[in-house]
Amino acid sequence: MTVPPTDHTTTEPGATPPRGCPHADTGVDGLTRLHGPTAETDPMGLYEKLRAAHGPVAPVLLDGDVRAWLVLGYLENRDVASRSTQFSRDPRTWHGWKSGEIDAATSPLVPMIGWRPDCVCADGEEHQRLRGAVTAGLDQFDHRGIRRHITRFAHQLIDGFCERGEVELVSRFTEHLPMLVLTHLLGMPDESGPRLVHAARDLFKATETSLASNAYVLEALEQLVLMKKSAPGQDIASVLLSHPAGLTDEEVKHHLRLILLAGYETTANLMSNVLRMVVTDPRFRGSLAGGQMTLPEAVEQVLWDEPPLMVCPGRWATGDTSLGGQEIKAGDMLLLGLAAGNVDKAIRPDPSTRVHHNRAHLSFSAGAHECPGQDIGRVIADTGIDILLTRLPDIALAVPEERLTWRSSTWSRHLTALPVTFAPRLPEAHDVTAPLPAPPPPSSAVPAAPQLPPADVAVGRGGPRTTWRARLRRFLRRR
Ligand code: HEM
Repeated sequence: MTVPPTDHTTTEPGATPPRGCPHADTGVDGLTRLHGPTAETDPMGLYEKLRAAHGPVAPVLLDGDVRAWLVLGYLENRDVASRSTQFSRDPRTWHGWKSGEIDAATSPLVPMIGWRPDCVCADGEEHQRLRGAVTAGLDQFDHRGIRRHITRFAHQLIDGFCERGEVELVSRFTEHLPMLVLTHLLGMPDESGPRLVHAARDLFKATETSLASNAYVLEALEQLVLMKKSAPGQDIASVLLSHPAGLTDEEVKHHLRLILLAGYETTANLMSNVLRMVVTDPRFRGSLAGGQMTLPEAVEQVLWDEPPLMVCPGRWATGDTSLGGQEIKAGDMLLLGLAAGNVDKAIRPDPSTRVHHNRAHLSFSAGAHECPGQDIGRVIADTGIDILLTRLPDIALAVPEERLTWRSSTWSRHLTALPVTFAPRLPEAHDVTAPLPAPPPPSSAVPAAPQLPPADVAVGRGGPRTTWRARLRRFLRRR
């Protein structure tokens, strides 16, 4: 995955007609824009219109009216993601670079579809070489170890606002927690945390300081590479440096940036979407509180219904072929419509039916590039939300639901703020530093299953305590 996503505030002046213009949603040859007002306000509605007009694969326009195919069908998405010899992940395959369809120096698409020396832009053996190092870096952490860090950071964040009785959860929690965890796993010293977290988050926002923030993050990663060369530790940077794949320093830096950026925005988005459901949908909250739906199930449901990345760039056809009834030419660009594929009637006739434990959604893509960090994303979301709801089971939306706003792009949409209120509480001073867990033993031995506490009891520093579900149930009974 290529990040950061292009925010529409960065669109070339004049490239998108103003709001209200009757042609705002269509461009050359009457093709539908994936960057017009409708794409921003009602992307799911737009995908359904495209599906009705074109079937499972639709011609669309990106920023600057660049042509691409949007894959809407579930099976067609899986097909494109899995057939890497027919659909390359290397953007240099695209004919648009040569035809002058895009100005590589100025197009806001370049961060998403430009080539970089990382595993996202590679196919075949080169992809396996680079991805092997990445997965070795991610797989060294066992989930209990990661959960300890998430727990510590989550409590610290909640301690920072729990006495006030109100907080804006996106900026103070859902965007902050994944970044704290990821910088820690990469091997960043905890002291560099707050400033780096600030810079890395700013980099996504397309503000006037984004370029400076990008430079700061790259500089910090360069320093990290130097530091880990002389003093390796149990972290992703050290594994990338010592991996037999023999990554150059430049490749290590690019992969550290990739992991940080690919993991941050998506996980933050997922957490915001789950918490929004908790505070806006009484049925969702009731199912959680009543135990009919576990938190991991709730997370999976949101992954089906609101993928953190709605459209995934990109694949490029290596030869002429047909797909979903469309004639695709060599060098054409295809986009994986993950959100559209997840609600394809061919596999989900009634999208309102609960998915329970079904994880066959497209939100982590499929095939050789399927997200290698999905379990880390899930554990950050599950653990962080669990702790928040345990500490503040009475959170309630502080504004009418209609006042919630999103920042949208072709690729995703982000809740900009989730203000909530709750009864003020004292901080719990969770400031224990825990060392990173040791890497798993090199043998293939299956580790012993952890002893789970009974359903409504979690073991914390102060011994057993009731979980959020029991507290939430009590809170709902009182209302
Ligand atoms: C809910 C959270 C997440 C979602 C929804 C998500 C989704 C995705 C998607 C859709 C792709 C693109 C695959 C493709 O091109 O076909 C991807 C790739 C990737 N993700 Fe994630 N991701 C998440 C969390 C993470 C985390 C936490 C990490 C790292 C710790 C991570 C690391 C990566 C990497 C390295 C790739 C590139 C893999 C490759 O090209 O081989 N992701 N992710």
